[in-house]
Amino acid sequence: MSDKFFQKPKGTADLLPAVQPIWQKINQIAQDVFGHRYRFGKIDTPLFENYEIFSRTSGDSSDVVSKEMYDFKDKGDRRMALRPEGTAGVVRAYVENKLYGPEYEKPVNLYYLESMFRYERPQAGRMREFHQVGVESFGSDSPYLDAQIIQMAIDFFKEFKLTDLVVKINSLGDDESRTAFRTALVDYLVGFQDQLSEDSKKRLQTNPMRILDSKDRNDQKVLLNAPHLLDYLNQDSKSRFQKVTSALDDFGIEYVIDDKLVRGLDYYNHTIFEIETSDPKLKSAATICGGGRYSGMVEDFGGPATPAIGFGIGLERLITLVGEVENQDLVDVYIVQTDHSVNAFANLLAKQLRERFHFGVLLDYTNRSMKSQFKSADRTQARYSIVVGEQEVSNKELTIKKMVDGSQKKVLLQQLKIEDFL
Ligand code: HAM
Repeated sequence: MSDKFFQKPKGTADLLPAVQPIWQKINQIAQDVFGHRYRFGKIDTPLFENYEIFSRTSGDSSDVVSKEMYDFKDKGDRRMALRPEGTAGVVRAYVENKLYGPEYEKPVNLYYLESMFRYERPQAGRMREFHQVGVESFGSDSPYLDAQIIQMAIDFFKEFKLTDLVVKINSLGDDESRTAFRTALVDYLVGFQDQLSEDSKKRLQTNPMRILDSKDRNDQKVLLNAPHLLDYLNQDSKSRFQKVTSALDDFGIEYVIDDKLVRGLDYYNHTIFEIETSDPKLKSAATICGGGRYSGMVEDFGGPATPAIGFGIGLERLITLVGEVENQDLVDVYIVQTDHSVNAFANLLAKQLRERFHFGVLLDYTNRSMKSQFKSADRTQARYSIVVGEQEVSNKELTIKKMVDGSQKKVLLQQLKIEDFL
């Protein structure tokens, strides 16, 4: 058996206890910003869904579906896929649970924090199993909601004190505008077909708009004089986009209108946006948030016509920028035992401290020397230590030592109260 068998799959990570504080902080901030301030309800959907849930929404010709999906046949011969993104599953759940019903407040606002799976080439900020926190809002096509959704992402990032972020925004317009642009783009690109990269040649047939965000130098040269998306927006789409940008201005959000922004998934229309960092730690994975409107999806799943908008934030990318955070949850008491004869008493004391005060309590179960137990108390940053020896057991009296300044006091076990540990 090869050694590889015992290694984690490429592009995945073990989240050891040392990195958990940042994940807890992310969960708390998501709940505070999205859950509490914006009143979005939390939703968890299955990690795998029927393959079509993703292939029909993200698009058969998108990279996510055609190259990156983890799909498999289950034992009942059903074609399944691990979710590569969060939106399609949430829409499926919205329709299946009839969240469009009159008993639900509109718009119906949901957020999630889930792992996603894409078979990509792993590098900094690009994993095969990664996590997104995302929001989805169903039932309003107000341009003011677009601004609110972008503000939500900014509010989230603000809690992590991230600066140097750039909001890029564009509009794909409605179906009519998008089709008009697509036709103009194909007409233009056909004239330069032989100068395009192999990928772009293929995309010209399958998904020409994706050529716009090609990183290939020659493609970019060809694109210099390509038609501009915004010139093809019909009047309705144009005035809608103007309302969105003026609502962003009202909020004081700085943004760049990026005419070449198209997004990698097929389901978008009207407003699309990405938030990028210029931090060199994330060179080729600078986009930490992507989202936009996707107004046909609820109907595609058999629900009523429903406008929708949302975004997803890549959490591994966020963590690369923020770094790890210190564990704030300290050990309250480390019980130091003189020798094994006091094990039973120390064990009982630990139980009582946890039960009565909900303290974080540590004690040694390997009968090490007092010196090494005190070392452990220091290393685990315990606030207090309590020494337990034969005398303490017979007197039922404890010596409580405050670790920061070494001050001590004696307290009868029966009279022990939480104030002794303040
Ligand atoms: P997306 O742009 O494909 O959009 O992904 C959103 C974010 O997930 C990206 O901006 C990036 O930060 C992160 N991300 C994507 N792939 C990886 C990867 N392989 N490793 C690490 N991070 C990654 C969506 O997924 C849409 N569902 C967003 C959305 C929600 N649109 C509307 N509602």
